[in-house]
Amino acid sequence: MYPADWEEYQACVEELLSSPQVARLKDIRHHPGVSCYEHSAFVSYVAWRLARRWGADGTMAARAGLLHDLYLYDPRSLPSWRQCFAHPRAAAVNAAALRGGLSPREENCILAHMWPLSVRAPHSREAAAVCLADKLCAVAEVLQVWRRLALRRALLAACP
Ligand SMILES: [Fe+2]
Ligand SMILES: [Fe+2]
Repeated sequence: MYPADWEEYQACVEELLSSPQVARLKDIRHHPGVSCYEHSAFVSYVAWRLARRWGADGTMAARAGLLHDLYLYDPRSLPSWRQCFAHPRAAAVNAAALRGGLSPREENCILAHMWPLSVRAPHSREAAAVCLADKLCAVAEVLQVWRRLALRRALLAACP
């Protein structure tokens, strides 16, 4: 059920996974049949793998990936075009509140994750990892590949 590198990954995000803010993502629908928590945890793991492969800071990518959609409101409350541009800012504000502040690089990982739809572009390999992971995971979720992955069960079990 668990990937071979699971413990190493989990050590990077353990503290965040036990936070009530991240647990709240389970109640927010992100893509059809996929909660915001499932999507964020999936992005976190994939961004961690990508960042390590690129010689970047895997811990930063894993944490920013987990918090990149921490907007914490019903996305259907906004028109989709507005949600597209507004939610990274809301996520960055909530992530900063949760972490007691964000470094400029951490903030850029979150604000630039919608690039090229966002004004801000990724300025680091960690931000590029989160941005690319967001696209790859969204495709896997929409194609229903995500539901069949053992990784899904591990990530769901990681956040009580
Ligand atoms: Fe997003
Ligand atoms: Fe996302």
